[in-house]
Amino acid sequence: MTQEMTSAAASGTWTLGDLRVHRIGFGAMRLPQDGTAFDPDAPPGDRDRAIAVLRRALELGVNHIDTAAFYFSRLRSANELINRALAPYPDDLVIATKVGPGRDASGAWLPHATPDLLRGQVEENLRQLGRDHLDLVNLRIVGTDSIAERFGALAELREAGLIRHLGLSNVQPHQLAEARAIAPVVCVQNPYGLGVRPEQEEFVRSCGEQGVAFVPFYSIAGAGREAGVRAQAGAAAGAQAGQGTDAAVLSVAQAHGASPAQVRLAWTLHLGEHVLAIPGTGNPDHLAANVAAGALRLSEDEMRLLDTAHRSAGPTG
Ligand SMILES: NC(=O)c1ccc[n+]([C@@H]2O[C@H](COP(=O)([O-])OP(=O)(O)OC[C@H]3O[C@@H](n4cnc5c(N)ncnc54)[C@H](OP(=O)(O)O)[C@@H]3O)[C@@H](O)[C@H]2O)c1
Repeated sequence: MTQEMTSAAASGTWTLGDLRVHRIGFGAMRLPQDGTAFDPDAPPGDRDRAIAVLRRALELGVNHIDTAAFYFSRLRSANELINRALAPYPDDLVIATKVGPGRDASGAWLPHATPDLLRGQVEENLRQLGRDHLDLVNLRIVGTDSIAERFGALAELREAGLIRHLGLSNVQPHQLAEARAIAPVVCVQNPYGLGVRPEQEEFVRSCGEQGVAFVPFYSIAGAGREAGVRAQAGAAAGAQAGQGTDAAVLSVAQAHGASPAQVRLAWTLHLGEHVLAIPGTGNPDHLAANVAAGALRLSEDEMRLLDTAHRSAGPTG
């Protein structure tokens, strides 16, 4: 498929609260390092390349970027790169960040933030991005416990004008319901993709019914998280496996002259208008391919084939 100049507008739009975004966005987690995110030994990513990718993303119509203050390597941070590349920010750009997890200056993970610390994390994002308010803040949680206290703390910051909209990450349906009783939730950001957490299928649908965007991550990388390798080596993997999601993805990809990664992204976008993609890459060619995936239209037969492969994948961690 042609991809050189395809705009993210081809993926359609969704409104996060009152902020309209194209459904193909961009995830910044991959930019600070060359290699595995959060690996203390990963070499820093190339600054000029990261800045060029961010600027190119906007040229290609991307207006939804996902980031976090805890996305940093020894010498680079995602927020600093975004600030350097894109400030002064265009009016239509939505920068979504997330709080909850934290890392100390050595990069070591801290216990998840208590309500008191959440304000500091919000302010850290404001400082790094150079903004007076954040467009969208996701409360990223671990576990199934009540999130009422922490979400309540963020709701207060929203009332105070530091945050425009709130979302949740890594949550279950009961936690979404709990949060929505406290303040509006515009999105849920969970790991999901073809063959990744098929058990969440009903949750994806129900988010749409509630007017909440579903924003999957790892939809290219998959359960292996670093398996962009899989996306690139889709042909070999599919041929070897001869079954499962790789084989189904490969056959659809070949029919469209597309890459397996593009089919994986397109499949998520076909799940509903409320599904937004935030593929992560530091590679300009992959960026263009990911944006172009928003223009890929899958037939009902192709969706049936991919859905079947997805459901047969079984629960993934
Ligand atoms: N809420 C959370 O807890 C959470 C957790 C993880 C991630 N996230 C967010 O979600 C975003 C996406 O997650 P992710 O980056 O881990 O996973 P992803 O987008 O599913 O996959 C990224 C991997 O796929 C490769 N890739 C990207 N586009 C490709 C293409 N067109 N062809 C072949 N390979 C391609 C990348 O390598 P190259 O750089 O070589 O392209 C990278 O290895 C992150 O950037 C982050 O903003 C949120």
